[in-house]
Amino acid sequence: MSEALQTLEPARGVIVAGRPMPEFRHIGVEPITGACGCEISGVDISRPLTPEVLDEVMKAFEYFLVIMFRDQTLTPEQHKAFSRYFGELTELPQAPIFPGHPDMQEVRREAHEPVSVVPFTRFHTDSPFLPRPPLCICMHAHDVPKYGGDTAFSNMFLAYETLSEGLRETLDRLQVVYSGKSIWKDNAKKDKDQQLRLRDGHSFTEDQLESIHPAVRRHPVTGRKALYVTSAYFRRFAGWSEEDSRGLLDYLQTIPHRLQLQCRIRWKPGTFIVWDNRFLQHCGVHDYENERRHLVRTTVIGEKPI
Ligand SMILES: [Fe+2]
Repeated sequence: MSEALQTLEPARGVIVAGRPMPEFRHIGVEPITGACGCEISGVDISRPLTPEVLDEVMKAFEYFLVIMFRDQTLTPEQHKAFSRYFGELTELPQAPIFPGHPDMQEVRREAHEPVSVVPFTRFHTDSPFLPRPPLCICMHAHDVPKYGGDTAFSNMFLAYETLSEGLRETLDRLQVVYSGKSIWKDNAKKDKDQQLRLRDGHSFTEDQLESIHPAVRRHPVTGRKALYVTSAYFRRFAGWSEEDSRGLLDYLQTIPHRLQLQCRIRWKPGTFIVWDNRFLQHCGVHDYENERRHLVRTTVIGEKPI
């Protein structure tokens, strides 16, 4: 390259998930795609972490939004202890509990069961109807198909940043009514072989099952904005009829499907992930049959969306 051309070339660092790649000294970090997700190596999460390692795990979580550890052997108590580094655990009104542990949930599809037993095989965020929806989910693979059954993630910071200015300004002013009040009633109306597996009972009040949240939420520390619209539990945009809301929702729910926003986690027995439920949407990929898929999770309560 000639000297003249060299001076025209701006200095560029590595950008991942829309930001400069941070430096890590105490843990191994390998980004999964340019959009989100990383694999962390050199950490046994069954044991208490040193402050230096914990700092870097948290930094990786903030940057990549979904962090993955392979080959982790954990008791339920160790799973919960690691989860508490991210915040306070919460129960969920609708998700089936992991037997014996009301503060853990399970995603379970037996080999003979249809896809319909697990909710939301489209991109979504979990439990947006709650006043303080989950900050993150900590999920451990117990049994997984030999091939397939991945979980896909889509970065909603990047989704927002790729929208045109006019639509961003419109969404900045919108709020969404999310409701989980009718889940059980709607499920009971379905044919038996199409019903979701839901938690049998819970202690949440009716008021806690419906909330109005901003269509664009901000990170409480950095202020970075992310799209926070999903068809799961969506009722309408506040002040809009359900009919008027439909067209814009239909468009917005196509956005997480853009490949350049995504990563996919390939599960293996012992894989443990933590994903940010505020700024990612996720989706289980049910491309397998005749095999058991059993994932056990905790849910960390988040802030009221701002
Ligand atoms: Fe989910």
